[in-house]
Amino acid sequence: MPAPKTAPSTLPLPPGRLGLPWIGETLSFLRDPNFATKRQAQYGSLFKSRIIGQPTVFFCGPEANAFLLSSHADCFSWRDGWPGTFQELLGESLFLQEGETHLRNRRLLMPAFHGKALASYFSTMVALSDSYLARWEKKQQLTWFLEFKKFTFEVASVLLVGSAPGHDETDNTIGTAESAETEAQIAQLASWFADLTNGLFTLPIRWGPTTYRKALRGRDRLLSYIEQEITKRRQLLARLQTDPTAALPTDVLTLLLQTEDDEGNRLSEAEIKVQTLLMLFAGHETTTSMLTSLVMSLAQNPDVLAKARAEQQAFPAESALTFEQIQQMPYLDQILKEVERQYPPVGGGFRRVIKPFNFNGYHVPAGWLALYRIDAAHKDERCYTNPSDFDPDRFSPERAEQKRYDYSLVGFGGGPRVCLGMAFAKLEMKIMAAQLLRRYHWQLDADQDLTMNPVPSLRPADGLKVRFSKLSFTA
Ligand code: HEM
Repeated sequence: MPAPKTAPSTLPLPPGRLGLPWIGETLSFLRDPNFATKRQAQYGSLFKSRIIGQPTVFFCGPEANAFLLSSHADCFSWRDGWPGTFQELLGESLFLQEGETHLRNRRLLMPAFHGKALASYFSTMVALSDSYLARWEKKQQLTWFLEFKKFTFEVASVLLVGSAPGHDETDNTIGTAESAETEAQIAQLASWFADLTNGLFTLPIRWGPTTYRKALRGRDRLLSYIEQEITKRRQLLARLQTDPTAALPTDVLTLLLQTEDDEGNRLSEAEIKVQTLLMLFAGHETTTSMLTSLVMSLAQNPDVLAKARAEQQAFPAESALTFEQIQQMPYLDQILKEVERQYPPVGGGFRRVIKPFNFNGYHVPAGWLALYRIDAAHKDERCYTNPSDFDPDRFSPERAEQKRYDYSLVGFGGGPRVCLGMAFAKLEMKIMAAQLLRRYHWQLDADQDLTMNPVPSLRPADGLKVRFSKLSFTA
């Protein structure tokens, strides 16, 4: 039964412990990867704790996800769930917007990540994946997490921020990793970006040579880079008025400058700048994590790997990967779902309770922090049979275990704020996976630590060391 909107406070607070004043259970939360699982086993799907001075309620399982993400989303604020550093460094972007403003901006951003736009990014993604695969073939030994990070950052900077100095305005081609100029610029952007992300989890001290000050400078440099790219595109758009043969770059920035909703709303230049910066932040580390878990799982599960290779071999031999083929890989889709379930890159999402509510016989007052735990539903035995097995067939049409409970697969979030870049990330991962399955072999080094570290995004402790080579029959 849904909880009443104005919740009476006669019900008890959720079980759990608030711990010491201010510090609460912060240290256990940060140090013990099983902190929440243990508390859930003890207290159930809703429990309280105190994290960094704030009473916090943890949501675990599909019913709790449905409550927070969908049916009672209006009891929670996204914006106030983020630390102040995020608010300053990521600006007035989608992450920090709520209500009507969020809806309007999401509507305006959506077309750049779906449908026709997505199809138009395909050839760039393929070209970039080809160039990285050739590079890895030469290298033979890889720490794959680091390599995927370069790859996903380059995809993001080329397709989102329009970074392609090899980008020729006359023939609309893009620079690839072979171009030294491109490499230097991507490296520069990556370094400003690293400065920015380092500042997200530090104390916001802006005087002196602090991490936070460097982060603010990184943000300003990235924003001014995006501004220059916007100016270039405005000039091209103006040229198009008199010269219909003028070519426009195929990237998110160009689309956003032209997007208008049914009511004639457009994003302002300031909005486009911060939204683009946010996409760069939200998009590449998460995709890196999931790609790494994908190739690790394939190496660890030879039967799954063989079946996935067989699916690729059903396409005509030697035929280049096409956008149409990408839509016809149901087994690869199942594998991606299983990787999302077992290795969700993001551990959970914070919110601020802005309306008191009752859930499962407990009362939660306004002002508390709320955290929904993504992997709780993924490991729930009611939702998934033998959840610790890596079993992509659980997502086959016959078994469809994700349909047993709504909101049981939430690696990309859910409800009105489900990940905006999900289709973009899936396309990028499928292109890389299909190319790997068709043409390459990789073997995990025996001597490495594969313990999964959850922060800042899930990855094996040693970054996944592999030996990489071309499959012999295509050599
Ligand atoms: C494997 C890759 C990715 C994963 C696992 C992932 C995961 C997530 C999750 C879990 C959320 C919801 C967080 C919450 O409810 O608190 C989210 C939101 C979001 N993601 Fe992703 N993401 C990925 C890739 C991307 C990409 C490529 C982009 C952009 C290009 C992107 C942009 C966003 C944005 C803008 C939001 C906020 C949406 C809103 O508030 O309306 N993500 N993502």
